[in-house]
Amino acid sequence: MCGIVGYIGTRNATPITLEGIKRLEYRGYDSSGLAIIDAEGNLKIHKKPGKIIELERTLPSPEKIYGTVGIAHTRWATHGEPTEVNSHPHTCCHHKLALVHNGIIENYRNLRKKLESENHIFVSDTDTEALVHLIEHFANKTDNLTQAVQEALKLVEGTYGIALISSDHPDQLIAARKGSPLILGIGENEFFITSDVSAIIIHTKKVIYLQDNEIVTLNRDSFKITTLENEAVNAKISVVDWDVSSIDKGEFKHFMLKEIFEQPVSVENAFRGRLFPNLSTVRLGGLNMTGEELRRIQRLQIVACGTSWHSALIGKYLIETLARIPVEVEYASEYRYRNPIIPPETVVIFISQSGETADTLAAMREAQAKGARALGITNVVGSTIARESDGGVYIHAGTEIGVASTKAFTSQVTILSMIAVLLGRMNNLSPTFGASYIKEIQKLPEKIQQILDTNDKIMEIAKTIIDAKNALYLGRGVNFPVALEGALKLKEISYIHAEGYPAAEMKHGPIALIDAKMPVVAIAPDDMIYDKIISNLQEVKARNGRIISIATEGDKRIAENSESVIYVPKTIYTLQPILTVIPLQLLAYYVANLRGLDVDQPRNLAKSVTVE
Ligand code: M6R
Repeated sequence: MCGIVGYIGTRNATPITLEGIKRLEYRGYDSSGLAIIDAEGNLKIHKKPGKIIELERTLPSPEKIYGTVGIAHTRWATHGEPTEVNSHPHTCCHHKLALVHNGIIENYRNLRKKLESENHIFVSDTDTEALVHLIEHFANKTDNLTQAVQEALKLVEGTYGIALISSDHPDQLIAARKGSPLILGIGENEFFITSDVSAIIIHTKKVIYLQDNEIVTLNRDSFKITTLENEAVNAKISVVDWDVSSIDKGEFKHFMLKEIFEQPVSVENAFRGRLFPNLSTVRLGGLNMTGEELRRIQRLQIVACGTSWHSALIGKYLIETLARIPVEVEYASEYRYRNPIIPPETVVIFISQSGETADTLAAMREAQAKGARALGITNVVGSTIARESDGGVYIHAGTEIGVASTKAFTSQVTILSMIAVLLGRMNNLSPTFGASYIKEIQKLPEKIQQILDTNDKIMEIAKTIIDAKNALYLGRGVNFPVALEGALKLKEISYIHAEGYPAAEMKHGPIALIDAKMPVVAIAPDDMIYDKIISNLQEVKARNGRIISIATEGDKRIAENSESVIYVPKTIYTLQPILTVIPLQLLAYYVANLRGLDVDQPRNLAKSVTVE
């Protein structure tokens, strides 16, 4: 959620950490701050509420805040409003330590009470401040800063990714993690700490993904990773295989628009090298399961949050239709606390773009604790879900920076369609159908491009609904989750209240809302339930509702019932969501953009929700 960047080396830490948190601003953007140890060995802290630009505006010239060790933070508030005093870095009574933190210190009230009774003075409402005073408490007793941090962290309940500097130890930077991602970047005579590789990729591609309960001590020319019990850890160095061009907006006004337009490529990347039309099947080696193990699966559970949960719902349709294996779909936040029943021969799939969503991760650990095999469908290579799952599939969508998820969704559904074919072919799916399905998957990029080419028309339609207060999205069958996803996109970036509904359910309540001001977005491609949805649209029209339809190319009948129609190419029923969602992403984008809103960083949201 928040973003952390730390630097120790020979260059000025200020611009490096500042540029770094700018790359992470999409993860949290209500306040920011940085701390350095300057050439005289003094700790300098600057922080500001608002976007990073506000911090930048008030910073003294780089020469005045020059230091070769520093940390910076961009915040998404959990405890305490986004004010200057609540922003990170936080410091201690004697202004010697500076700490940035992602996660939540759950026992901070008790820690704070105890430390206040020992005369520590607190100034903020945050949980993080308790930790920096706790570290100070131990640092007062030892010259070994690592040991002070270890002792403090042993008393912490909750989650953290932290980075700490101290004016008493101007040649050190300490970082540690538990439940919140943290990465060590290894450069030439310099080291970086970050919560997300994209912040440091311009400096180094050599990284170590820290594990829970690990702490790293960075000196200027060496680093040491240990556990909280001070046992040495031999960590593996990985090389990041993507570069900075993938995190640039290029010619697009917003990352979201760029990511929508990347979908012909990102969907192709999801299936590239994995389809075998001659064998009428697919290969997903990362699942780490033998053919026999896959054939033994009796039941699947799919667990996720937000947009990933919508793709899970589509996965249910896909797998039940093609493989005839029963699938349950659950919100991760519910699954983790309700003691789920996981019968034998059940595989649990966890879908997460970021691979770091706290609820999904906790749900996965719960399933694993119950002995289930957990598979991850993630985008971020090396993310916690990717590392801790028993197998899985990367969607290879490329970095997704827009807070509203778009390309990850279509790639997740593409992967789920391949899992459905794989399991289907092991059960009762015919080679002929398997082969034709695979051919249709291969045609998706071209069909997505055709929809993107109608972009101008979608912008015109968006103009007609920018003043709406509410909107209803209707879909049936496999397009019901698409209705949910379209409504989610609209509400998260345009702040128009929107609901997704199974079209036939509308008459059981939401129909009361329909009037001439209410846009109704109907996903009505030409399939076996087309006639049913047309009847639902007539019910809307009879009440003066305004209908925007998503229909199959060549469908003339739909126009009679709609104020406007956006056409998508025809495809196999269960693959429709990969096409029907594209106009809804564009519609939401243009509405938000026309309303002059900050599309990439909508209010109150964060890209990756690493707290409960
Ligand atoms: O990284 P994840 O896929 O686990 O994230 C899950 C949700 O937080 C995410 O999809 C969220 O709903 C997005 N803002 C949707 O656009």
